[in-house]
Amino acid sequence: MFLLCAGERLTWKSRTEEGYSTGEMDCSIVCTHMMPEAWELGLGSVWVRLFEVAALSRAFALPPEIKPICLLPVGYAAAAAKPARRHSEYRPPEEMVKVLKGSTAAIKYLSAGYLGGD
Ligand SMILES: Cc1cc2nc3c(=O)[nH]c(=O)nc-3n(C[C@H](O)[C@H](O)[C@H](O)COP(=O)(O)O)c2cc1C
Repeated sequence: MFLLCAGERLTWKSRTEEGYSTGEMDCSIVCTHMMPEAWELGLGSVWVRLFEVAALSRAFALPPEIKPICLLPVGYAAAAAKPARRHSEYRPPEEMVKVLKGSTAAIKYLSAGYLGGD
């Protein structure tokens, strides 16, 4: 069982959005790499987020700046285990993609130097 956590003292903080840090996003990226890596080793895994943060933090004696993001139980998949139906069922692209009116303005904004920096 892996517990992925964000250390709030170390996470990248946005200078354009008060209180935003990338800890959860970073952990999600790591987790999406761990799952196929486990699979390469012959192991299945399940992304779990439905837990009581306070209870979990107490159980693992996490300091306050360490935020639990997700659990990743890893093990041998049951012989009958199969992917959920949403792996093969897709919503039509018209439902998933929306071209926004402001796209040109957004590209101008980004190319004017508001991207990145630190
Ligand atoms: C962000 C996130 C949180 C999830 N949290 C839970 C959870 O707490 N409990 C659970 O049973 N499944 C949870 N799931 C769903 C499972 O990880 C898994 O995707 C689902 O059971 C479908 O399995 P499959 O993708 O292998 O077919 C979560 C998925 C995501 C992406």
